[in-house]
Amino acid sequence: MARILITSAIPYINGIKHLGNLVGSQLPADLYARYMRARGHEVMFICATDEHGTPAELAAARAGMPVGDYCAQMHEVQANLAAGFRLSFDHFGRSSSGRNRKLTQHLARRLGENGFIEERAEKQVFSVADNRFLPDRYIEGTCPNCGYDKARGDQCENCTKQLDPTDLINPRSAISGSTELEVRETKHLHLKQKSLKGELADWIDSKTDWPILTTSIAKKWLNDGEGLQDRGITRDLAWGVPVQFEGAPWSGMEGKVFYVWFDAPIEYIAATAEWADDCEEPDSAWERWWRTDKGADDVRYVQFMGKDNVPFHTLSFPATIMGSREPWKLVDYIKSFNYLNYDGGQFSTSQGRGVFMDQALSILPADYWRWWLLSHAPESADSEFTWENFQISVNKDLADVLGNFVSRITKFCRSKYGEEVPAGGQTGERAAALIEELEARVRVYEGHMEAMEIRKAATELRAIWVAGNEYLQAAAPWTVVKEDPARAAAMVRLGLNLIRLYAILSEPFIPDAAAKMLHAMKTDDRAWPGPVAEALKALKPGHAFETPEVLFAKITDEDREAWQKKFSGTRG
Ligand code: 2FM
Ligand code: ZN
Repeated sequence: MARILITSAIPYINGIKHLGNLVGSQLPADLYARYMRARGHEVMFICATDEHGTPAELAAARAGMPVGDYCAQMHEVQANLAAGFRLSFDHFGRSSSGRNRKLTQHLARRLGENGFIEERAEKQVFSVADNRFLPDRYIEGTCPNCGYDKARGDQCENCTKQLDPTDLINPRSAISGSTELEVRETKHLHLKQKSLKGELADWIDSKTDWPILTTSIAKKWLNDGEGLQDRGITRDLAWGVPVQFEGAPWSGMEGKVFYVWFDAPIEYIAATAEWADDCEEPDSAWERWWRTDKGADDVRYVQFMGKDNVPFHTLSFPATIMGSREPWKLVDYIKSFNYLNYDGGQFSTSQGRGVFMDQALSILPADYWRWWLLSHAPESADSEFTWENFQISVNKDLADVLGNFVSRITKFCRSKYGEEVPAGGQTGERAAALIEELEARVRVYEGHMEAMEIRKAATELRAIWVAGNEYLQAAAPWTVVKEDPARAAAMVRLGLNLIRLYAILSEPFIPDAAAKMLHAMKTDDRAWPGPVAEALKALKPGHAFETPEVLFAKITDEDREAWQKKFSGTRG
């Protein structure tokens, strides 16, 4: 049994996430967590809300609420939606927690002591109309790298380049739209990433198994152009982790806070401490996941995120950890994702374009979305959500193949043998061939799940369902029963056992349907299959079951058209 630490990029607090956000981090992380638990490993799966910085302040201002209240409320909203999508976090924390404040201040102090922090007087954009500095998202303009005209002061959404507000062309205030901007001097702490460049480069070079998307982005920001730059890690804002020495003032930094991207990844660690606090466990309970001097050497740490987050996780956060010169766990594997597009354009939070998590659950249960999103995860390239494609996948894969299989076999058994696993008879060569095929496919499926090849895993799982369906179609127990009821009984027994096997294999993708299938088979035996031939003997003759309700309803053309229309505009 291994120990696996899994973190998903922590979603900004500013509003409900869309399906593109979901499939880029939280959902695939959940798939992996569920799979690893099913394989008997000890898993710690952590996520949180990213509550500091300009996104939170701007959203709270728009909602007309104090930022602290806004964050508390939106955290609940996001936690409920995560539960609705069956995201199985061990803890869903808050980056505004006391744990994170303390740890952020602690790491900054360590970085300072080790010479990796420098105080610099720097020029920042000041808005005369708003009478304040405009850090990060408080300023918008044209990206100097790609020309995108809605780039934000901290990063261009379009090309992922990390920016400074003063880099923007034609800048304007995101608060008032004012272009009456001046550059004024202010003092900030800078993280001397450049002096950690060699260490970072060696570390990234040692990660030969990372996906190309992850390493290519990391190396680009490490080496391209002027290469890795030192980063300002404080801001002239009121909301955030105060720049203090673990509670004591940090001279010259009064009234400033740490930059949201400095404290956000630290929350991965802090949220694990929050988990321990909630369970009334001692510090050792979370430290064994994070401190290599306290057992975390044995942990495999995997992060999930969208491609725009990669620079922060391959460079900035590791620089924080390395520069602390403390034995914190560094990430072992970073699974990153391209973007999911929506019906001919982009999903967009700011424009309210696409389907958002609450809207999705208001029209269909989580499994429908989980299946489509995961089986179309934007792994090797951007992918696109269309309603047609969604309808086809749900109807074919879930309703026609898996749902139909479960329904046919249980109903047939009930009508001929009653609601218990029938005894007697032998299956024939066709069943032997099926078992051989499944044996091979299940092992391939395991390989893809281990490797986090999500689309390939979904394809294999679908093929596993199809094989059972085709077997049933060809074996036709409903015909055989007339001549040879014992043989038909053996086929049905195999079919009922396949339902249990399918539930176990499918659980990471479609946990609710899997639970219904196991419930219908009246079994708690979720043991991951060893040899398939053995696994298909778990439900013995005489074992009672019940015929489940329809597992998946088909999406009609009328539904599809109505939804397509409903979600074609922007969210009000
Ligand atoms: O892109 C985002 O939604 C960020 N809130 C992700 C932060 S991930 C981490 F560093 F905490
Ligand atoms: Zn750009």
